[in-house]
Amino acid sequence: MNCLQVLLRGTQLRPAITRISTRFRYTQHQGVKGIRNRKSFYEAPVQPGLHEQNELATVNAGDMRFLDDRAYEEVAGGAMRINRDVATAQHVFILQPYVKWSAKRTTPVDVTPDDQLAEATALIHSLPNWKVARSLKVPLESLERKTLFGSGKIAEIKELLAQLRNERQVNSVFVSKGTLSFAQRQFLEDEFKLPVLDRYSVVIQILRLHATSAEARLQVAMAELPYIWSQAKDASVTQTRRQGYSLTDQQKEILRTRERKLRAELDDVRRQRRLLRKKRKQLNCPTAAVVGYTNAGKTSLIKALTMEDTMQPRNQLFATLDVTAHAGYLPCNLQIIYMDTVGFMSDLPTGLFECFVATLEDAMLADIIIHVQDLSHPCHAAQRAHVEATLRSLAFSVSQGNSNVGELPPIINVFNKCDLLKPKAQVSVLAEQTDTGMCHLTSARTHAGLQTLLKDVEQQILDVTGRRKLQVRVPSGGPEMAWLYKNAAVVDTKADEQNAEKILMRVVISQCTLDQFMREFC
Ligand code: GTP
Repeated sequence: MNCLQVLLRGTQLRPAITRISTRFRYTQHQGVKGIRNRKSFYEAPVQPGLHEQNELATVNAGDMRFLDDRAYEEVAGGAMRINRDVATAQHVFILQPYVKWSAKRTTPVDVTPDDQLAEATALIHSLPNWKVARSLKVPLESLERKTLFGSGKIAEIKELLAQLRNERQVNSVFVSKGTLSFAQRQFLEDEFKLPVLDRYSVVIQILRLHATSAEARLQVAMAELPYIWSQAKDASVTQTRRQGYSLTDQQKEILRTRERKLRAELDDVRRQRRLLRKKRKQLNCPTAAVVGYTNAGKTSLIKALTMEDTMQPRNQLFATLDVTAHAGYLPCNLQIIYMDTVGFMSDLPTGLFECFVATLEDAMLADIIIHVQDLSHPCHAAQRAHVEATLRSLAFSVSQGNSNVGELPPIINVFNKCDLLKPKAQVSVLAEQTDTGMCHLTSARTHAGLQTLLKDVEQQILDVTGRRKLQVRVPSGGPEMAWLYKNAAVVDTKADEQNAEKILMRVVISQCTLDQFMREFC
């Protein structure tokens, strides 16, 4: 050990750099050969997500033509009442049904009908050229009744619709319920003489619009099929073909063929994802999956943590449909990959999001999960509970195809958009949360709280991946130094006061990399 002295100083080390903008931090070491090699591996600026997407798009590009199938569009249009041409202006009458009696309610008690209506309105506003003509909350005893609404309410709604129709201000009705049964929809369309949409069909419309990558298009196409089958199944037991939507044998074959092709393509995508994940593992770069309710600020937070200017957060529901990877640096200089994921939403059939499991698998297999929550949202607590429940069920589905998975990675709770709350409200939120574990108050807009969050992310990553902070004494300018720059995260360096030929390097290193170092130089 004459060339090396390793001193375990573990937790005593303070991060040398606490600025958030870290992408160009390598420049401070440009004189060291190893760094150049490592940087060229990623290409600047570092955006593995874009590489991955491009690879996936290339893989599937040749096979995507089958998605534009006119025969299928006809079947889907009949089931979902949606139009391929989302640019068509729509004036929508929103009906927000809610159950009056708490015993029969399926929504959490702290979600009011006004909150539900606000979410339904946001869904409509996520589609360009779609406007809300009018909205109405409708108290009900149950959501399962065949006609959904009572006869008095139906008459009242028809009167409102007649007024709007005279002014040419309405061309569809959106009943903000997960899915309407075929019988409910058929009855309401007969009464209202307008197409009737439910949450499933509106969300599918948004997903179709936002799905630009090959993978997202495949997943959205897959997400449509259970809905069409369920509507057709309802039709066969409740109605005859003469009275409404049902499938001919030929249409059923169209659906089955499409499903077969989609499954094969998605299996391919899954294989590609596994390969990419393996490549990432070989890079030995820790990953954090950023998850949360739709519009909570996931993309904005990643953008703030990585300073990646190309990211475009949008005030729209389901703006992100692909899992993309974005590189950033922790205060100790360790590189980390943040995975941006599709947002969750309550009151949607689970089938809709099952199709995104292939991409969410990456998130479930990350080293840690960062759960971003919109603190300014009135239903913040209910949204949080919904995301937590969905994560648990996703972890379960992922574990089905992968025997060594099943548990969730450690979760860091981030209460975002704190700039929209008064300081007093922030204090009371923090006081309430002490029981439910550690959380971070942040603003992706003002960057408040991000440094503390980064330190916590760093600590969790070090714990989970078994990396340690060490101080090593190596010959100044020697091969050991270059090797460490290339293979470990260098926190900082300083001259050794006792020996002018040596240098003290503080590094973050895994046991396996440390063993390699020992083999090579000791
Ligand atoms: P989805 O991809 O749809 O799930 O959304 P997301 O969770 O990625 O949210 P995104 O980052 O796209 O932000 C949604 C909206 O919230 C955008 O208009 C952002 O500018 C805004 N936003 C995000 N973070 C903050 C914040 O800390 N404060 C404020 N005031 N607005 C924020």
